[in-house]
Amino acid sequence: MKVLNLYACLGGNRLLWENCEVTAVELDKDLARMYQERFPNDTVIVGDAHEYLLQNYKNFDFIWSSPPCPTHSKIRILRKDNIGFVPAYPEMQLYQEIILLQKLFKGMFCVENVIPYYEPLIPAQKRGRHLYWCNFKLPQILTTRNCPKIRAKDNGLEAQQLKDLSDFHNFDFSLYEGAQRKIKIARNLIDYEVGKTIFDVAMKLHTQIQDKQLSIF
Ligand SMILES: C[S@@+](CC[C@H](N)C(=O)[O-])C[C@H]1O[C@@H](n2cnc3c(N)ncnc32)[C@H](O)[C@@H]1O
Repeated sequence: MKVLNLYACLGGNRLLWENCEVTAVELDKDLARMYQERFPNDTVIVGDAHEYLLQNYKNFDFIWSSPPCPTHSKIRILRKDNIGFVPAYPEMQLYQEIILLQKLFKGMFCVENVIPYYEPLIPAQKRGRHLYWCNFKLPQILTTRNCPKIRAKDNGLEAQQLKDLSDFHNFDFSLYEGAQRKIKIARNLIDYEVGKTIFDVAMKLHTQIQDKQLSIF
């Protein structure tokens, strides 16, 4: 199965994917470097995932997209003080990608994001603290693992949270040397068990479609 992994970060979602050929797109050079070290057999592209999708979606069987969530997150309106939050429009790339995949793409897809502070513009499947826009039904339970509690910014807690998240994701985030905050990156990663559950459904459907096509010939 040919897989496109957009906004790849450190491949939290990708860790347990097997028997596939993966192309990953990540804008942050240092994250792309670390992703490549983690998954030496994947093709890694440093660039804009949104544009890459538009130009290349036809070349894949399964597409996973995790566009950045900050402009959709409830944190934007939940915090009373809202310190540090400059007003921002919700980034519509999220919905542009879902529409493109729903209407033009012939393979399977999963676009993942947080539950937004507004009514989602396109209905999604809700699991845990996330929404998933897929063209297949997801199992009710995606993971049996409990993610460490993520609390609001608190410098005293940050080192401990980073350690907890390193253990949870089986990755040492202190190796990152780029411009983003390490804790932000650690919080970005999808639980690898969630990634595997969704990937396995897509793989099963892909195999069924291939078997059907073979039986026609
Ligand atoms: C929410 S994280 C993805 C997490 C990933 N699915 C995982 O499980 O590890 C979003 C990532 O998108 C990257 N990013 C932001 N804008 C991007 C763009 N236009 N093109 C490619 N990557 C981008 C960020 O650097 C960040 O690593």
